[in-house]
Amino acid sequence: MTVSHATPAFPEDSPLDSARSAETQVETHPAAPAPRPGSLRWGILATGFIAGQFTSDALIAGLDVRAVGSRSAESAQRFATTYGIPRAHDSYEALVADPEVDIIYVATPHPMHRETAGMALEAGKHVLVEKPFTLNRAEAVELRDLAARRGLLVMEAMWTRYLPHMRRIREIIAAGGIGEVRTVFADHTQSLPTDPEHRINALTLGGGALLDLGIYPISFAWDILGEPISIQAAAHFGATGADTEVATVMTHLSGALSTTTTSSRAKGPNTAHIVGTEGRIDIDGVWYTSTDFSHRAADGTLLERYESARDGVGMQHQALAAEDYVARGVLGGERLSVDDSVRIMGTLDEIRAQIGLRYPGEPRLR
Ligand SMILES: NC(=O)c1ccc[n+]([C@@H]2O[C@H](COP(=O)([O-])OP(=O)(O)OC[C@H]3O[C@@H](n4cnc5c(N)ncnc54)[C@H](OP(=O)(O)O)[C@@H]3O)[C@@H](O)[C@H]2O)c1
Repeated sequence: MTVSHATPAFPEDSPLDSARSAETQVETHPAAPAPRPGSLRWGILATGFIAGQFTSDALIAGLDVRAVGSRSAESAQRFATTYGIPRAHDSYEALVADPEVDIIYVATPHPMHRETAGMALEAGKHVLVEKPFTLNRAEAVELRDLAARRGLLVMEAMWTRYLPHMRRIREIIAAGGIGEVRTVFADHTQSLPTDPEHRINALTLGGGALLDLGIYPISFAWDILGEPISIQAAAHFGATGADTEVATVMTHLSGALSTTTTSSRAKGPNTAHIVGTEGRIDIDGVWYTSTDFSHRAADGTLLERYESARDGVGMQHQALAAEDYVARGVLGGERLSVDDSVRIMGTLDEIRAQIGLRYPGEPRLR
């Protein structure tokens, strides 16, 4: 069976996490559609690569993007003009204080997530914060607890979890479509800039393949198999001390195994596979974006070919989920709860402890 959900238009190898510089050129977006009734008013905190990608998708979905804030007035104004955003602020403080904003999307490098997301929560705004949720588990706990004290949503922008093909995959597994899951494999490997000053390499900006790219397959293994009960990791480091390759083998409660590979230097297939006793699911590259998958029986017979819609890149689905959680008062999240985001940061801490990766000024990880 082939289930087609629209015309494929998104190139298979468009790496969202290509960590392009803040100077990345963005096309001027057409005027935003009229806001949907009941939607939240969004503020965009930071104006780099992913802030532009998110805003573009948010506008496609009809979200009310009301304001942007940057460390520089010029960047804020340029971003506002590009995306047709009515309000531009020359500081993050001014953005989070804007009474016309209900929810802040945080798109700073990860060492700043704790501070910038925390600033928004202190100002009484809900928060959707880019992955990784924070630099480490201790910071994640602080953010979660702050949001709980303030009665606000704080949610990790692990957008893959919210994509329609992932929803369908979970349905197939829950219905026993591949039997008992025994192994999960996922690869996130890209060829990214080698400039030592670049965010992907600079330790002061949280550089390294694990936190930038490896978090996707690790969060995916968590999604399918739950928390790992044992973790083994290996890594290679570049000249700046940032990790360039990381591999993990994790055992999960059911006894199933997951393996993940990550590189910031060499681009691989970026596919993912879930293998069960009665069949398997092969997710096409780039598996963590809106993509297609095949569900096969154990003998290889194709049972379902799922083709995803390519309406934007797909970052809007998480934002729509955030609005839904706020509307229903589900402030701990559902698809990826904030408690699981904290635990996943714990998994990343454990991997970093094993490979010996600590960021400047960070306390011991364990
Ligand atoms: N979901 C995804 O697919 C995806 C893809 C790429 C990145 N990310 C995540 O998004 C975050 C940002 O990544 P990015 O690729 O957008 O980075 P980027 O292009 O370098 O942009 C980061 C922005 O953060 C702000 N910023 C605040 N303090 C900064 C500092 N000390 N140095 C540099 N910039 C600073 C800047 O905005 P202003 O100058 O306007 O203040 C800058 O434009 C990271 O946590 C990354 O893991 C997610």
